[in-house]
Amino acid sequence: MRTPLIAGNWKMNGTWRESEALLSRIAELSPLYTEVLVCPPFTALAAAAAHLAGTDIEWGAQNVYPAEKGAYTGEISPGMLAESGCTYCICGHSERRSYFGETDDFIHQKVKALFAHHIRPILCVGESADERKAGRTEDVIRREVAAGIADLAPDEAARLVIAYEPVWAIGSGAAATAEDAETVCALIRTVVEEQYGKTVSDLVRILYGGSVNSANISSFLQEADIDGALIGGASLDGEEFSSIVEIAERN
Ligand code: PGA
Repeated sequence: MRTPLIAGNWKMNGTWRESEALLSRIAELSPLYTEVLVCPPFTALAAAAAHLAGTDIEWGAQNVYPAEKGAYTGEISPGMLAESGCTYCICGHSERRSYFGETDDFIHQKVKALFAHHIRPILCVGESADERKAGRTEDVIRREVAAGIADLAPDEAARLVIAYEPVWAIGSGAAATAEDAETVCALIRTVVEEQYGKTVSDLVRILYGGSVNSANISSFLQEADIDGALIGGASLDGEEFSSIVEIAERN
């Protein structure tokens, strides 16, 4: 049985002050079955730690640089995230792939560096609208997943979280249908199985992301291979995010 995970990706939103109100609302949640995670910007991680320590809610980061320390101006190391209490870190989000030129190989280095610090990566994969139209969804997903999860110890692989986020569904208000998302999430589980076997692939959690809200979350959670959601816009509204968590709890 896989524990559902509801994760909020705040992206570049939330000054320290703005974050405080949202974090206090989220701190009130006390999920029983669902794991709940928020990923604020780096500058609000200390606020997250202050508000969420001792609650049932976890906090994580949106990015990491895959080196221990050194002359990498502007970057944040996995050790720094671990010290900030981060239990998860998003890797390979499509915004980072497209705006910052992140490659499969670089994203894989991040996955490895995070595991070395016992932080669970949330590896994001997903096809663009053009790739889908051209019938290349399976190729893209296979390539991004296989590259991202290569060369892990089986116990690390089992702790992976992979988020299927079709690029065309992110922030567009047009989520994938639950059936389409399930097809790709099942494919992702197959790719994990091909690399690490069924015991591991049964444990890996696969999330759907892209315009998830309180009206559609339940349809995704009913699918066999969807174990939760990575939520952008709707995670910035405390009431909406709380509703999503409450629905996940009843699912
Ligand atoms: P969205 O973003 O929920 O606003 O579509 C999801 C994401 O990019 O992780």
